[in-house]
Amino acid sequence: MILALETSCDETAAALVTDDGAVRANVVSSQADLHARYGGVVPEVASRRHLELVVPVVREALREANAELGDVSRVAVTRGPGLIGALLIGLAAAKAVAWARRVPLVPVDHLQGHVASLYLGEDALEPPFVCLLASGGHTLLLDVRERGAATVLGTTLDDAAGEAFDKGARLLGLGYPGGAAIDALARSGDPDAFAFPVARLPGLDFSFSGLKTALLYTVRALPQEELERRRADLAASYQRAIVRALVERARAAAERTRADTVAVVGGVAANSELRGALPGAVLAPLDLCTDNAAMIASAARYAEPVPYPDYLGLDAYA
Ligand SMILES: Nc1ncnc2c1ncn2[C@@H]1O[C@H](COP(=O)(O)OP(=O)(O)OP(=O)(O)O)[C@@H](O)[C@H]1O
Ligand SMILES: [Mg+2]
Repeated sequence: MILALETSCDETAAALVTDDGAVRANVVSSQADLHARYGGVVPEVASRRHLELVVPVVREALREANAELGDVSRVAVTRGPGLIGALLIGLAAAKAVAWARRVPLVPVDHLQGHVASLYLGEDALEPPFVCLLASGGHTLLLDVRERGAATVLGTTLDDAAGEAFDKGARLLGLGYPGGAAIDALARSGDPDAFAFPVARLPGLDFSFSGLKTALLYTVRALPQEELERRRADLAASYQRAIVRALVERARAAAERTRADTVAVVGGVAANSELRGALPGAVLAPLDLCTDNAAMIASAARYAEPVPYPDYLGLDAYA
Protein backbone atom coordinates (compact mmCIF):
# COMPACT_ATOMS: atom_id res chain seq x y z
CA MET A 1 0.00 0.00 0.00
CA ILE A 2 0.98 3.59 -0.62
CA LEU A 3 0.65 6.05 2.26
CA ALA A 4 0.20 9.56 0.86
CA LEU A 5 0.28 12.98 2.55
CA GLU A 6 -1.04 16.25 1.15
CA THR A 7 -0.52 19.60 2.93
CA SER A 8 -0.08 22.10 0.07
CA CYS A 9 -2.74 24.57 1.19
CA ASP A 10 -5.34 24.41 3.96
CA GLU A 11 -6.28 20.73 3.94
CA THR A 12 -4.28 18.26 6.01
CA ALA A 13 -4.82 14.94 4.26
CA ALA A 14 -3.59 11.35 4.41
CA ALA A 15 -4.65 8.36 2.35
CA LEU A 16 -3.88 4.69 1.87
CA VAL A 17 -4.22 3.40 -1.68
CA THR A 18 -3.26 0.02 -3.17
CA ASP A 19 -1.03 -0.30 -6.23
CA ASP A 20 -4.07 -1.08 -8.38
CA GLY A 21 -5.85 2.09 -7.29
CA ALA A 22 -8.25 0.93 -4.57
CA VAL A 23 -8.74 3.65 -1.95
CA ARG A 24 -8.52 2.05 1.51
CA ALA A 25 -8.63 5.32 3.44
CA ASN A 26 -8.96 8.96 2.49
CA VAL A 27 -8.89 11.37 5.44
CA VAL A 28 -9.14 15.13 4.88
CA SER A 29 -9.08 17.63 7.71
CA SER A 30 -10.05 21.03 6.33
CA GLN A 31 -8.84 24.19 8.03
CA ALA A 32 -11.46 26.32 6.22
CA ASP A 33 -13.17 27.36 9.47
CA LEU A 34 -9.86 28.47 10.91
CA HIS A 35 -9.13 30.77 7.97
CA ALA A 36 -12.70 32.01 7.38
CA ARG A 37 -12.35 34.90 9.81
CA TYR A 38 -9.40 36.25 7.76
CA GLY A 39 -11.24 35.90 4.43
CA GLY A 40 -8.55 33.64 2.99
CA VAL A 41 -5.75 31.24 3.87
CA VAL A 42 -3.07 32.71 6.16
CA PRO A 43 0.09 30.73 5.28
CA GLU A 44 1.69 30.77 8.73
CA VAL A 45 -1.56 29.78 10.42
CA ALA A 46 -1.95 26.95 7.89
CA SER A 47 1.58 25.62 8.55
CA ARG A 48 1.07 25.56 12.31
CA ARG A 49 -2.25 23.77 11.94
CA HIS A 50 -0.72 21.15 9.60
CA LEU A 51 1.91 20.52 12.25
CA GLU A 52 -0.80 19.80 14.82
CA LEU A 53 -2.93 17.69 12.49
CA VAL A 54 -0.52 15.65 10.41
CA VAL A 55 0.08 12.83 12.91
CA PRO A 56 -3.58 12.43 13.97
CA VAL A 57 -4.65 12.44 10.30
CA VAL A 58 -2.12 9.70 9.41
CA ARG A 59 -3.25 7.65 12.43
CA GLU A 60 -6.88 8.08 11.37
CA ALA A 61 -6.08 6.92 7.82
CA LEU A 62 -4.31 3.80 9.16
CA ARG A 63 -7.26 3.10 11.45
CA GLU A 64 -9.77 3.57 8.61
CA ALA A 65 -7.80 1.19 6.35
CA ASN A 66 -7.35 -1.26 9.21
CA ALA A 67 -3.64 -1.14 8.41
CA GLU A 68 -0.35 -0.43 10.15
CA LEU A 69 2.85 1.23 9.03
CA GLY A 70 4.30 -2.22 8.30
CA ASP A 71 1.80 -2.50 5.39
CA VAL A 72 3.19 0.61 3.70
CA SER A 73 5.55 -0.14 0.80
CA ARG A 74 6.21 3.52 -0.06
CA VAL A 75 5.29 6.99 1.12
CA ALA A 76 4.02 9.61 -1.31
CA VAL A 77 3.88 13.33 -0.62
CA THR A 78 3.02 16.57 -2.38
CA ARG A 79 6.28 18.37 -3.06
CA GLY A 80 4.70 21.43 -4.75
CA PRO A 81 3.26 23.73 -5.92
CA GLY A 82 1.62 25.26 -2.86
CA LEU A 83 2.38 27.28 0.28
CA ILE A 84 6.00 26.56 1.07
CA GLY A 85 5.63 26.30 4.86
CA ALA A 86 2.57 24.09 4.52
CA LEU A 87 4.33 21.81 2.03
CA LEU A 88 7.38 21.47 4.27
CA ILE A 89 5.28 20.04 7.11
CA GLY A 90 3.93 17.26 4.88
CA LEU A 91 7.33 16.62 3.33
CA ALA A 92 9.08 16.39 6.71
CA ALA A 93 6.40 14.06 8.06
CA ALA A 94 6.57 11.86 4.96
CA LYS A 95 10.37 11.70 5.13
CA ALA A 96 10.19 10.72 8.80
CA VAL A 97 7.76 7.87 8.17
CA ALA A 98 9.60 6.61 5.07
CA TRP A 99 12.98 6.82 6.79
CA ALA A 100 11.75 5.04 9.92
CA ARG A 101 10.32 2.20 7.80
CA ARG A 102 13.30 2.20 5.35
CA VAL A 103 10.93 2.49 2.39
CA PRO A 104 11.14 4.72 -0.75
CA LEU A 105 9.58 8.18 -0.89
CA VAL A 106 7.66 9.40 -3.95
CA PRO A 107 7.57 13.19 -4.39
CA VAL A 108 4.41 14.15 -6.30
CA ASP A 109 3.44 17.29 -8.20
CA HIS A 110 0.11 18.53 -6.84
CA LEU A 111 -1.31 19.15 -10.32
CA GLN A 112 -0.40 15.63 -11.49
CA GLY A 113 -2.25 14.60 -8.34
CA HIS A 114 -5.44 16.37 -9.45
CA VAL A 115 -5.27 14.61 -12.83
CA ALA A 116 -4.61 11.26 -11.13
CA SER A 117 -7.91 11.58 -9.23
CA LEU A 118 -9.30 10.10 -12.46
CA TYR A 119 -7.24 6.90 -12.12
CA LEU A 120 -8.79 5.53 -8.93
CA GLY A 121 -11.47 2.92 -8.31
CA GLU A 122 -13.47 0.76 -10.66
CA ASP A 123 -14.03 3.30 -13.44
CA ALA A 124 -10.41 4.48 -13.70
CA LEU A 125 -9.90 6.53 -16.86
CA GLU A 126 -7.38 5.55 -19.54
CA PRO A 127 -5.62 8.25 -21.61
CA PRO A 128 -5.77 9.79 -24.14
CA PHE A 129 -8.09 12.59 -23.03
CA VAL A 130 -8.24 16.35 -22.68
CA CYS A 131 -8.27 17.42 -19.04
CA LEU A 132 -9.68 20.66 -17.68
CA LEU A 133 -7.96 21.28 -14.33
CA ALA A 134 -9.80 24.08 -12.54
CA SER A 135 -8.77 24.71 -8.95
CA GLY A 136 -8.02 27.47 -6.46
CA GLY A 137 -4.61 28.21 -7.94
CA HIS A 138 -4.77 26.90 -11.51
CA THR A 139 -6.86 26.74 -14.66
CA LEU A 140 -5.26 24.43 -17.18
CA LEU A 141 -6.22 22.55 -20.29
CA LEU A 142 -4.02 19.48 -20.57
CA ASP A 143 -3.44 17.01 -23.36
CA VAL A 144 -3.01 13.72 -21.50
CA ARG A 145 -1.56 10.95 -23.63
CA GLU A 146 -0.30 8.70 -20.85
CA ARG A 147 -0.67 8.46 -17.08
CA GLY A 148 1.93 10.59 -15.33
CA ALA A 149 2.54 12.98 -18.25
CA ALA A 150 0.63 15.89 -19.78
CA THR A 151 1.16 18.78 -22.20
CA VAL A 152 -0.29 22.20 -21.38
CA LEU A 153 -2.66 23.46 -24.11
CA GLY A 154 -3.91 26.53 -22.29
CA THR A 155 -3.75 28.31 -18.96
CA THR A 156 -5.11 31.39 -17.23
CA LEU A 157 -3.43 34.71 -17.86
CA ASP A 158 -4.59 36.14 -14.52
CA ASP A 159 -6.91 34.61 -11.91
CA ALA A 160 -7.65 30.90 -11.63
CA ALA A 161 -11.29 29.80 -11.97
CA GLY A 162 -11.49 28.87 -8.28
CA GLU A 163 -9.93 32.20 -7.37
CA ALA A 164 -12.60 33.93 -9.48
CA PHE A 165 -15.25 32.05 -7.49
CA ASP A 166 -13.60 32.96 -4.18
CA LYS A 167 -13.15 36.64 -5.05
CA GLY A 168 -16.68 36.84 -6.44
CA ALA A 169 -18.03 35.31 -3.24
CA ARG A 170 -16.15 37.89 -1.23
CA LEU A 171 -17.65 40.74 -3.29
CA LEU A 172 -21.09 39.22 -2.70
CA GLY A 173 -20.46 38.97 1.04
CA LEU A 174 -20.59 35.16 1.03
CA GLY A 175 -17.39 34.56 3.01
CA TYR A 176 -14.54 32.13 2.44
CA PRO A 177 -14.20 29.64 0.81
CA GLY A 178 -16.59 30.96 -1.77
CA GLY A 179 -16.98 28.44 -4.62
CA ALA A 180 -19.44 26.17 -2.87
CA ALA A 181 -21.34 29.19 -1.47
CA ILE A 182 -21.85 30.71 -4.94
CA ASP A 183 -22.84 27.28 -6.26
CA ALA A 184 -25.51 26.92 -3.56
CA LEU A 185 -26.88 30.47 -3.87
CA ALA A 186 -26.90 30.36 -7.70
CA ARG A 187 -29.52 27.60 -7.58
CA SER A 188 -32.19 30.12 -6.55
CA GLY A 189 -30.99 32.85 -8.97
CA ASP A 190 -31.52 33.75 -12.61
CA PRO A 191 -28.30 33.18 -14.65
CA ASP A 192 -29.52 35.58 -17.35
CA ALA A 193 -30.28 38.45 -14.98
CA PHE A 194 -26.90 40.11 -15.50
CA ALA A 195 -24.77 39.95 -18.65
CA PHE A 196 -21.22 39.33 -17.41
CA PRO A 197 -18.45 39.16 -19.99
CA VAL A 198 -16.63 36.00 -21.09
CA ALA A 199 -13.10 36.92 -22.16
CA ARG A 200 -12.43 35.89 -25.74
CA LEU A 201 -8.71 35.33 -26.10
CA PRO A 202 -7.05 33.77 -29.08
CA GLY A 203 -5.99 30.17 -28.49
CA LEU A 204 -6.92 28.13 -25.45
CA ASP A 205 -6.03 30.51 -22.62
CA PHE A 206 -8.38 31.91 -19.98
CA SER A 207 -8.82 35.28 -18.31
CA PHE A 208 -11.12 35.95 -15.37
CA SER A 209 -9.94 39.33 -14.10
CA GLY A 210 -12.32 41.33 -16.34
CA LEU A 211 -15.25 39.28 -15.09
CA LYS A 212 -14.28 39.93 -11.48
CA THR A 213 -14.06 43.67 -12.18
CA ALA A 214 -17.45 43.59 -13.91
CA LEU A 215 -18.98 42.04 -10.79
CA LEU A 216 -17.25 44.64 -8.60
CA TYR A 217 -18.71 47.54 -10.62
CA THR A 218 -22.16 45.96 -10.73
CA VAL A 219 -22.18 45.40 -6.97
CA ARG A 220 -20.98 48.97 -6.34
CA ALA A 221 -23.72 50.43 -8.51
CA LEU A 222 -26.54 48.61 -6.72
CA PRO A 223 -28.22 50.18 -3.69
CA GLN A 224 -27.78 47.98 -0.58
CA GLU A 225 -31.40 46.90 -0.48
CA GLU A 226 -31.39 45.86 -4.14
CA LEU A 227 -28.07 44.08 -3.68
CA GLU A 228 -29.65 41.98 -0.92
CA ARG A 229 -32.64 41.18 -3.11
CA ARG A 230 -30.59 40.29 -6.19
CA ARG A 231 -27.67 38.47 -4.60
CA ALA A 232 -28.81 35.09 -5.95
CA ASP A 233 -29.20 36.52 -9.47
CA LEU A 234 -25.70 37.98 -9.26
CA ALA A 235 -24.27 34.64 -8.08
CA ALA A 236 -26.08 32.72 -10.83
CA SER A 237 -25.01 35.14 -13.59
CA TYR A 238 -21.42 35.27 -12.36
CA GLN A 239 -21.21 31.48 -12.13
CA ARG A 240 -22.73 31.17 -15.60
CA ALA A 241 -19.96 33.35 -17.06
CA ILE A 242 -17.18 31.27 -15.44
CA VAL A 243 -18.75 27.98 -16.48
CA ARG A 244 -19.31 29.22 -20.02
CA ALA A 245 -15.63 30.16 -20.37
CA LEU A 246 -14.50 26.77 -19.04
CA VAL A 247 -16.89 24.77 -21.21
CA GLU A 248 -16.14 26.69 -24.42
CA ARG A 249 -12.42 26.26 -24.03
CA ALA A 250 -12.61 22.60 -23.00
CA ARG A 251 -14.67 21.85 -26.11
CA ALA A 252 -12.23 23.78 -28.31
CA ALA A 253 -9.29 21.85 -26.81
CA ALA A 254 -11.01 18.54 -27.50
CA GLU A 255 -11.60 19.63 -31.07
CA ARG A 256 -8.02 20.73 -31.56
CA THR A 257 -6.53 17.50 -30.20
CA ARG A 258 -9.30 15.32 -31.69
CA ALA A 259 -9.82 13.84 -28.24
CA ASP A 260 -12.91 11.70 -27.72
CA THR A 261 -12.88 12.27 -23.98
CA VAL A 262 -12.95 15.44 -21.91
CA ALA A 263 -12.27 15.08 -18.18
CA VAL A 264 -12.66 17.69 -15.43
CA VAL A 265 -10.67 17.76 -12.17
CA GLY A 266 -9.84 20.17 -9.32
CA GLY A 267 -11.98 21.98 -6.76
CA VAL A 268 -14.10 23.79 -9.37
CA ALA A 269 -15.02 20.38 -10.86
CA ALA A 270 -17.31 20.12 -7.82
CA ASN A 271 -19.44 22.94 -9.25
CA SER A 272 -22.93 21.65 -10.02
CA GLU A 273 -23.49 23.85 -13.07
CA LEU A 274 -20.14 22.86 -14.59
CA ARG A 275 -20.88 19.18 -13.92
CA GLY A 276 -24.14 19.54 -15.83
CA ALA A 277 -22.73 21.64 -18.66
CA LEU A 278 -20.43 19.03 -20.19
CA PRO A 279 -22.58 16.00 -21.01
CA GLY A 280 -20.45 12.94 -21.72
CA ALA A 281 -17.43 14.38 -19.89
CA VAL A 282 -15.65 12.31 -17.24
CA LEU A 283 -15.92 14.15 -13.92
CA ALA A 284 -13.64 13.56 -10.96
CA PRO A 285 -15.65 12.00 -8.11
CA LEU A 286 -16.97 14.77 -5.84
CA ASP A 287 -14.88 13.77 -2.83
CA LEU A 288 -11.72 13.83 -4.96
CA CYS A 289 -12.23 17.29 -6.55
CA THR A 290 -10.85 19.47 -3.76
CA ASP A 291 -7.49 18.66 -2.20
CA ASN A 292 -7.05 15.15 -0.84
CA ALA A 293 -4.24 12.62 -0.45
CA ALA A 294 -5.86 9.74 -2.38
CA MET A 295 -5.11 11.59 -5.63
CA ILE A 296 -1.48 12.07 -4.48
CA ALA A 297 -1.16 8.32 -3.84
CA SER A 298 -2.70 7.69 -7.24
CA ALA A 299 -0.17 9.95 -8.99
CA ALA A 300 2.67 8.30 -7.06
CA ARG A 301 1.99 5.09 -8.98
CA TYR A 302 3.24 6.86 -12.14
CA ALA A 303 6.09 8.89 -10.61
CA GLU A 304 9.70 7.99 -9.84
CA PRO A 305 10.27 6.73 -6.25
CA VAL A 306 13.40 8.02 -4.49
CA PRO A 307 15.16 5.12 -2.70
CA TYR A 308 15.89 5.12 1.05
CA PRO A 309 17.63 7.27 2.32
CA ASP A 310 18.37 9.54 -0.66
CA TYR A 311 15.23 11.62 -0.09
CA LEU A 312 16.28 13.16 3.22
CA GLY A 313 17.64 16.27 1.45
CA LEU A 314 14.59 16.71 -0.80
CA ASP A 315 13.07 20.20 -0.85
CA ALA A 316 9.57 21.48 -1.56
CA TYR A 317 8.76 24.07 -4.25
CA ALA A 318 6.27 26.93 -3.78
N1 LIG B 1 -18.99 23.78 -5.80
C1 LIG B 1 -18.00 24.57 -6.19
N2 LIG B 1 -18.17 25.47 -7.18
C2 LIG B 1 -17.16 26.27 -7.59
N3 LIG B 1 -15.95 26.29 -7.04
C3 LIG B 1 -15.72 25.42 -6.03
C4 LIG B 1 -16.72 24.53 -5.56
N4 LIG B 1 -16.19 23.80 -4.55
C5 LIG B 1 -14.90 24.23 -4.41
N5 LIG B 1 -14.62 25.21 -5.29
C6 LIG B 1 -13.38 25.97 -5.44
O1 LIG B 1 -12.30 25.09 -5.57
C7 LIG B 1 -11.11 25.72 -5.08
C8 LIG B 1 -10.35 24.74 -4.22
O2 LIG B 1 -9.92 23.70 -5.04
P1 LIG B 1 -8.56 22.93 -4.78
O3 LIG B 1 -8.58 22.43 -3.39
O4 LIG B 1 -8.37 21.96 -5.86
O5 LIG B 1 -7.59 24.18 -4.98
P2 LIG B 1 -6.17 24.45 -4.39
O6 LIG B 1 -5.53 23.17 -4.01
O7 LIG B 1 -6.31 25.53 -3.38
O8 LIG B 1 -5.41 25.02 -5.66
P3 LIG B 1 -4.35 24.24 -6.57
O9 LIG B 1 -4.84 22.85 -6.72
O10 LIG B 1 -4.37 25.01 -7.84
O11 LIG B 1 -3.07 24.32 -5.83
C9 LIG B 1 -11.55 26.95 -4.33
O12 LIG B 1 -11.24 28.08 -5.10
C10 LIG B 1 -13.06 26.77 -4.20
O13 LIG B 1 -13.78 27.97 -4.18
MG1 LIG C 1 -5.53 21.56 -5.29
